[in-house]
Amino acid sequence: MRGLILAGGFATRLRPLSCSKPKLLFPIVGTPLVELMARWLSSGGVDQIILAVNHLSDKLKIEVGRHVAGVTVKFSVEETPLGTAGPIRLAANLLGKDDPFFVTNGDIVSDIEIRRMLEMHEETNAEATMAVVSVPDPSPYGSVLTDSNGKVKEFEEKSAVLSAASHVNAGVYVLSQSVIDSIPGGRSVSLENEVFPKLVRNGRMQSWMHKGFWYDIGRVSEYVRANHELLQKQELKATKPGASEVGREILRPSYLGTRTHIGVGAKVGPLAILSDNVSVGDEAIVRNSIIFEETSIGEKVAVEGSVIGERVVIGKGSRIGHGSMIAGQLSIPEGSIVPPNSVILC
Ligand code: GTP
Repeated sequence: MRGLILAGGFATRLRPLSCSKPKLLFPIVGTPLVELMARWLSSGGVDQIILAVNHLSDKLKIEVGRHVAGVTVKFSVEETPLGTAGPIRLAANLLGKDDPFFVTNGDIVSDIEIRRMLEMHEETNAEATMAVVSVPDPSPYGSVLTDSNGKVKEFEEKSAVLSAASHVNAGVYVLSQSVIDSIPGGRSVSLENEVFPKLVRNGRMQSWMHKGFWYDIGRVSEYVRANHELLQKQELKATKPGASEVGREILRPSYLGTRTHIGVGAKVGPLAILSDNVSVGDEAIVRNSIIFEETSIGEKVAVEGSVIGERVVIGKGSRIGHGSMIAGQLSIPEGSIVPPNSVILC
């Protein structure tokens, strides 16, 4: 089965981290999101992924290449953003005659059972089957009301009225070819606002209730939550203090990517997630923070409760206050005091 990942959004809610890094390349406990998604899709029978992109598409093409986690990747590049449905129509040739096919937002970390969704789609003769999840706060999402058989009765984007009594759209769909024909060409079209409401009115939209884990990492708070919760689940991968850490304090749960360097007297963790090639200077402290790849944290620096982009250099003795975000590729001069909740732009 072919699967399309919608990956052309501007990821404004992840700024400034997304200025230089597409959302699909954000590390989730050290692994780029696209790799996690490819593993998930391939475990559900998807053997070819189409990445629907525009924003930062060159970067994605270079970094992702033609295969991820054993799955073939093709790119469908938009000249102008086409929304969440327009890219599906644009990629019709790449989707071929696969009927149905699979579509997902490009910011989902989940173990949704794709094969079960597909069976549900076929059994109910739906045109679209949407995975739905239950979340503590439904207000940022599309609310879905179903009948006792899971047929979608009402669907509304970010509805305060529906959200009290409903589940939310997980941004993961099985679609029949007929859906492509219903998408107008040549302009931006929204699946949620234009395509799904019609399918609901015609009684052709099914839901698949997902009970496992699901994160939409499109907001920083959710991105951090996903990292922390998945880190705790991956206890095996979490670093255990060992001989090589003599003279350093590494508190679990923490994750150290490959070729990380921890200086003498440094204190790392708990909840420190260091991607590949990160270096932490002598006597530095990194706690409860996510550090993207190739960032260098200088001697006697303290980083707490923050997210630091890729290839950042933090000068000796600096203090990065809790809740801060630093865009990729910046240099923070020696001795800087970054107050809590600062956002340092690209
Ligand atoms: P925000 O700017 O923070 O809202 O992020 P976003 O636009 O990246 O994400 P949003 O949740 O609004 O969109 C859901 C999914 O659709 C994301 O995976 C986006 O990458 C994708 N998407 C949104 N607009 C487009 C578009 O015009 N083209 C393509 N190909 N994908 C899109």
